Amino acid sequence: MTMGKPITKAVIPAAGLGTRFLPATKAMPKEMLPVVDRPAIQYVVEEAVKSGLTDLLMITGRNKRSLEDHFDREPGLERALELKGDKDRLDAVQHASQLGPIHYVRQGEAKGLGHAVLCARQHVGNEPFAVLLGDDLIDESENLLTTMMEVQQKTGGSVIALIEVDPSQTSAYGCADITAIEGEDYVRVNSLVEKPAAGTAPSNLAVIGRYVLHPRVFGVLEETGPGSGGEIQLTDALQTLAASDGEGSGVYGVVFKGRRYDTGDKLSYLKAVITLASERVEFGEDLKTWMKGFVS
Ligand code: UTP
Repeated sequence: MTMGKPITKAVIPAAGLGTRFLPATKAMPKEMLPVVDRPAIQYVVEEAVKSGLTDLLMITGRNKRSLEDHFDREPGLERALELKGDKDRLDAVQHASQLGPIHYVRQGEAKGLGHAVLCARQHVGNEPFAVLLGDDLIDESENLLTTMMEVQQKTGGSVIALIEVDPSQTSAYGCADITAIEGEDYVRVNSLVEKPAAGTAPSNLAVIGRYVLHPRVFGVLEETGPGSGGEIQLTDALQTLAASDGEGSGVYGVVFKGRRYDTGDKLSYLKAVITLASERVEFGEDLKTWMKGFVS
């Protein structure tokens, strides 16, 4: 068991093509789709900051410039809001640019999540780091990432987040074969398979978009060829780490029971918007009253 120095780096892959959300994502990144009044990616960046991560690296690509603009200052707009005395909106605009310095690297070609993570190698160097997928929202009342970082520090391996899904859904996810560890609230991951064919999944535990990885994953990713869908899959690299020995090997899982949304999926996106909107003090009650009438 190792206890390393605190984890400070977060990698946020946001270079995917977002084909499930076309045509909305033809000229705009899916990470910029608004969830109530903030783009999805802002929730993800806020979660990283809340978890104590101070060094943020976003993986972007073509068509993704609005991501950088969103987290940058906008002096013209700020001045206009200041002149109007619109303090609330000014605060909201400034908040996005105050979440921290964000570094960017471009993926060049969307060759898969594994390839996107490999693009972070030079920035991350030789220390464990978190990965938060830019279209995956974890409810802000949850502490999933903090728990995962503790497990990484305790085990010295890599840590994934798992949710229980209906067996009919497993072929849309990476799936894990696990063993419980006595006395611990995390599990050992024996093997992983990306998008298993119907009826072949090792369990109904599916991988979601939070990871805390040992830097050994970079060397493995370099050797990982295209997998499911012709993409370089992070799941395949983690499978290699789960099956190997020595420093930085071993994969562990935290089973997450809280609320989470895949905003790259239309139905899950709509659920995120409705749930989070219905909890807003300004209009949540009005929205719920309207929805009751609409449904009946
Ligand atoms: P997804 O599989 O959800 O993204 O990847 P996608 O490929 O954009 O989606 P569809 O299937 O075409 O609709 C999960 C995360 O990994 C990033 C995505 O931006 C998303 O945050 N990703 C994926 C990359 O950064 N690069 C890639 O090559 C692929």
